[in-house]
Amino acid sequence: MNQTAAAVSEKRQWDRLMAMARLGAIPGDGVNRACLTDLDRQARRLLVGWASEIGATVSLDAAANLWLRREGSDPRSAPVVTGSHMDTQPNGGRFDGIYGVIAGLEALAALHDAGTTLRRPVEVVAWTNEEGGRFAPGCMGSMAWSGFRGIEEFADVADPDGVRFADALAAHLASEADLPRRPLGGQPHAYVEAHIEQGPRLEADGLDIGVVTGIQGSRWFTVTLTGDTAHAGTTPLALRRDAVQDMLRAIAALNGLMHDPHDVLRFTVGRIVVEPNTSNSVANRASFTIDFRHPDKDVLLARGDAVAGVVQAAVRDAGVTVRETFHALPVEFSPQVIDAVERAATDQHCSHIRMPSGAFHDAQFVVPVCPTGMIFVPCRKGISHNPAEYSEPGQLAAGTRVLTQTLTTLADT
Ligand code: GLV
Ligand code: MN
Ligand code: MN
Repeated sequence: MNQTAAAVSEKRQWDRLMAMARLGAIPGDGVNRACLTDLDRQARRLLVGWASEIGATVSLDAAANLWLRREGSDPRSAPVVTGSHMDTQPNGGRFDGIYGVIAGLEALAALHDAGTTLRRPVEVVAWTNEEGGRFAPGCMGSMAWSGFRGIEEFADVADPDGVRFADALAAHLASEADLPRRPLGGQPHAYVEAHIEQGPRLEADGLDIGVVTGIQGSRWFTVTLTGDTAHAGTTPLALRRDAVQDMLRAIAALNGLMHDPHDVLRFTVGRIVVEPNTSNSVANRASFTIDFRHPDKDVLLARGDAVAGVVQAAVRDAGVTVRETFHALPVEFSPQVIDAVERAATDQHCSHIRMPSGAFHDAQFVVPVCPTGMIFVPCRKGISHNPAEYSEPGQLAAGTRVLTQTLTTLADT
């Protein structure tokens, strides 16, 4: 076995994941740690402390992406980067995102403990706001780092309490003023991200590792319907402009547009906000989100482009606006990274399969910048974005050994 990978500690990694899970713990073993909150800051500080213990240097960029770095022997060489995110869904689990960050740290710790110096530096990044649960859309940190979107484009996105993203980011950066700054962007040699699968396939097939080949495309929309509020007991139908009834018409029409007998297409209405939100008032305002995903770019473009027209045709009384908030085309990962992950899994005697990702990840936005790939580990029943999310310590450690060996391969070339 690769000597550095053998230095991965299952117990240290598990203990650190459980320590992170206490920051924002919710009933049922879940975690609610929204980005750029005080809990997020506490989690980042815990990570910084662990990184300092092994001599890794720490820095922060203008999107508050947090970077840990272990030097290589060739100071002029481009780094190999790994990482993921530390924020969670409001009703999230203990592994989505944070596993990839702690696995990256564990790889640095294994390099440290084994006394291994690679040619290239190895960096671990914790991307800001991958989930999009507090500020939509997700992946703001990686989009800003890769130049896909400017960080200033997100300035006015508000959380449910009306806090602007720009203000939350500025407050966070001010609170971390003691950390060295680094510029946004870069040109790594390669990027590889470890993550729980978030689907049922690896567990069902009894496999240790998913060698991820790419990520399906995603488009997010927010639909807002504006009617008039009125008395529920007295207002005849003909006099109503009921935003909720029009929302139901719009969603029914969208279910038709998004129908897929093959169950490949993913269409979700996950957030609905109604005003005034009382049982005895007709709603004057209703807004809902659309999360639409497909692996085929043509389907993603054709059906996504049809959303606004279908909604407008379905609505009867209310005014309507349709705003697209996220647009990520499907990506394919680099054969160089896919092969390196696959070889590492074989060397580690881990059973593995090549598979695409249904979830989006920060890796999606790194693809245009450098050769990119991902490693999946199984999770129980495929449950994710749910407090019941669970992977066994041994499954997580196997993934980290594969990650460590992949990093050592990529950083010595
Ligand atoms: C990531 O959290 C996703 O929604 O795919
Ligand atoms: Mn994630
Ligand atoms: Mn997630």
